[in-house]
Amino acid sequence: MQTSSQSTKETNSQSTDLTKEMTMQDETRTDRSFDTIADYFEKKVYGGLKGDIRLAVLRRDIFAYTAQMSKELGRPLRVLDVGAGLAQIAIELAAQGHSVVINDISANMLEKAKASAAEIDRNLDIHWYVCPYQEIEDKLAIDELQNKDSMGKNTENAAKFDLIMSHALLEWLAEPAAIMNFCDRQLAEHGALSLCFYNPASFDYRNLIMGNFNLLDNTDYKADTKKSLTPNYPVAKEEVESWLTTHHYQTILTSGLRVFHDYAPLKRGGHNDPDAVIRMELRYSQREPYKWLGRYLHIMATR
Ligand SMILES: C[S@@+](CC[C@H](N)C(=O)[O-])C[C@H]1O[C@@H](n2cnc3c(N)ncnc32)[C@H](O)[C@@H]1O
Repeated sequence: MQTSSQSTKETNSQSTDLTKEMTMQDETRTDRSFDTIADYFEKKVYGGLKGDIRLAVLRRDIFAYTAQMSKELGRPLRVLDVGAGLAQIAIELAAQGHSVVINDISANMLEKAKASAAEIDRNLDIHWYVCPYQEIEDKLAIDELQNKDSMGKNTENAAKFDLIMSHALLEWLAEPAAIMNFCDRQLAEHGALSLCFYNPASFDYRNLIMGNFNLLDNTDYKADTKKSLTPNYPVAKEEVESWLTTHHYQTILTSGLRVFHDYAPLKRGGHNDPDAVIRMELRYSQREPYKWLGRYLHIMATR
């Protein structure tokens, strides 16, 4: 018969095992699908001024470049958006006449993106791939083979993209650096990479301003990613720059997204005018040293 002290010991050792197991699970990083938080993401990130600033900076940076590239090539561009989420920029590029491939691991996110694409025009040249971006190459190869068979012509060159966008994806990946190998294979020689990623320096700066010193002192701090949209594994600018150097890219543009909006605890003066905030964010997004404090950074690069 089991004594109560035996049972307590067993319970204790079981709970220690469970704690170990949970810690190990926590340490096992996996790519983070937004399937369960699609509504929350849409509302929290794009339901207000934060999202408007993000899109304004990305539109300015990307559309000027794509217009120029398309003019030089004398044709619409082939664009890929990985971890596209609501895919606003990719859908706008399709509406401008480019051929666009949109990917996300989350079906719920792409359902929302499909609905907004359909609102613009049902005949946009968009191909949708609901899968981890790591599986796109196989799927594209199968689709291209089928096209080749049905059209009787070689579509091999179609595999390369003129522009690959990876926006706010790196910080949610278990192996973020692997995206560079993917781009090496999928980007055309003349192609451009648009990398937008969460800036870990902004986390420190915001918490300094807000007086959250306890959070900065706690080196083990992890946000609850089931609810929070603060990524636990952000990649520092220096790391992304070192990947770009290793993979022989030259940076053509850098911007900061939300370089002051999120830091202002007091909404006074111009902060009460959303258009003025966007105008100032656009201006300072490309100015030193302010841009490096953006909540997100945007780097465009070519090889
Ligand atoms: C923060 S959201 C960014 C969405 C969009 N690019 C934007 O800037 O608004 C990150 C997205 O990456 C997706 N994701 C995570 N891991 C992925 C993977 N391995 N392949 C494709 N998408 C992935 C998530 O489901 C989510 O929709």
